[in-house]
Amino acid sequence: LNQFPNVQETVAPAEVANVSATPVTVLFGSKSGNSKSVAKSLHEKLVARGLSVSLQDMNQYNATKLKDEKYLLVIVSTHGEGDPPPAAEDLHAFIHNRKAPKLGGAKYAVLALGDQSYVNFCQTGKDFDKRLAELGGDRIADRVDADVDFEEAAEQWIENVTTKLLAQLNHTNGTSVVAKSTVATVAAPAVKKVVYNRKNPFAATVLEKVQLNGRGSQKKTYHLELSLEGSGLTYLPGDTVGIFAKNNSTLVSEVLAQTKWDGASTLVYKDHLLSLEEILTSHVELTTVSGVLLEKLLHYAEQKKNEKDAAALKTILDNKKELVAFLYGKDVLDIVLDYAHGITAEEFINLALPLQARLYSIASSIKEHEEEVHLTIGQVLFETCGRARKGVCSNHIAELLNVGDSVDVFIEKNESFRLPENENTPVIMVGPGTGIAPFRAFVEERAATGAKGKNWLFFGDRNFTTDFLYQLEWQRHLKSGALTQMNTAFSRDTDKKIYVQHRLQQNAVEIYKWLKEGAHFYICGDAKQMARDVRNTLIDIVEKQAAISHEEAVHFVKELIKAGRLQEDVY
Ligand code: 2AM
Repeated sequence: LNQFPNVQETVAPAEVANVSATPVTVLFGSKSGNSKSVAKSLHEKLVARGLSVSLQDMNQYNATKLKDEKYLLVIVSTHGEGDPPPAAEDLHAFIHNRKAPKLGGAKYAVLALGDQSYVNFCQTGKDFDKRLAELGGDRIADRVDADVDFEEAAEQWIENVTTKLLAQLNHTNGTSVVAKSTVATVAAPAVKKVVYNRKNPFAATVLEKVQLNGRGSQKKTYHLELSLEGSGLTYLPGDTVGIFAKNNSTLVSEVLAQTKWDGASTLVYKDHLLSLEEILTSHVELTTVSGVLLEKLLHYAEQKKNEKDAAALKTILDNKKELVAFLYGKDVLDIVLDYAHGITAEEFINLALPLQARLYSIASSIKEHEEEVHLTIGQVLFETCGRARKGVCSNHIAELLNVGDSVDVFIEKNESFRLPENENTPVIMVGPGTGIAPFRAFVEERAATGAKGKNWLFFGDRNFTTDFLYQLEWQRHLKSGALTQMNTAFSRDTDKKIYVQHRLQQNAVEIYKWLKEGAHFYICGDAKQMARDVRNTLIDIVEKQAAISHEEAVHFVKELIKAGRLQEDVY
């Protein structure tokens, strides 16, 4: 992981000797590896202070130990619309159980990682923070909710928690040693190289753009090849690419027309003087509305004494269960028109969320395509409340981006979606629709490295003739042996829908055999229905084939997750 700076520290041993006896637990629940990298950084820092610290993955953590913890530092990400990531699911459920054991006076602190553009920002971290207090924990530092560019907030939290923790420990130990801030020296590279990341994206040139669906398909899926030449950027299969796109001009015009704001007026946005049209096009979120935005609008309405808007927003925000459904498909225009009466352009841009990059699973192996990265992107088009809606990035790519153009990108690591370390381990991949992307990378990587493990791919889409993404490549891989087996499910070729999970069921005996041989099982694609259905199918297969109870099969699959043998990349 390279997202979190490597900090080396120097510490005077005399300062720390007295506090080393009390054990501290740093507990992380990671989604793509960010929580883990922050946890590691905190762990290093505390160890350097002479503390006895245990670094624990929630996935592996024995929850019954919770009641014995004296000092507990939790770093946890949030998944999708406010759920715990798979690695944190069990512990999250454990502490929320009515019968969860009381904490024996544990001192704790929580760092929540999340994404402001999702409905329930940092919900899992908020849950932990609240529940640990309810169970009798004693919060020693305020929770910090960090957005996608979490590094700075995380560093401050680490600094604060370290200070508070040392103060507590010194107090408990009856001495008066005060935590001194350590001298942090970031290891400087010998030659100053430009590092491209979310804050400093790389302008990648489009080498190829191909529409993968045949004529007559209801879908448009694009294969995009980007050049990474000269960037120094590299990646592993499973990683993602972040793309900065622009808002659609039709939506920008619609916002200007409906609000009667003047697009040509110039305003200051983050210290830059820009036209309103430019700010709305390139700098603020127009298509995503989240809890954070509603809270800001509520605060605005209260300040303006706009009681009607404030009351309406409060009702929406208080009704947490309905929030996801309420916001589904809505954009900023819907919300501003209904709940921010009289808001000026200047007021709006000050509370709008910054336009964020969209993440796509990488569809290529860099070993096969040197200095290139390939993506599989489905164009998002739908209609809500009588207005046509367009996904920001997929439409930017579909409508505006052509070969030779450039687009700002960065690589985001995803440590929780990785090929097995052992090249002989069999792999089962389930990726309907654009969920196919990382598996193109997996199979290419295994072919390029000559890995001997078996590879089985399940793919599904609407119609065989128009939607068999990368068909020729799969046929080539089957012929060469890079792909051992492939099963397809075309849902709209038959009267009755056939999905990937039906194909899994039909192959239950073999699937279970592969699992017994140690196979890793991967799911990529739709999070709302497909991933859950596939997981349930897997449980069912295990239950029947192993002739065990449903509960035992659920446990078996949970153990697969814990062992890193069931991994999901879902959205
Ligand atoms: P459908 O659109 O005909 O319902 C990729 O989008 C493929 O996934 C499509 O064939 C789609 O079928 C299918 N799909 C939709 N819901 C699914 C689910 N719950 N499980 C598996 N596949 C699903």
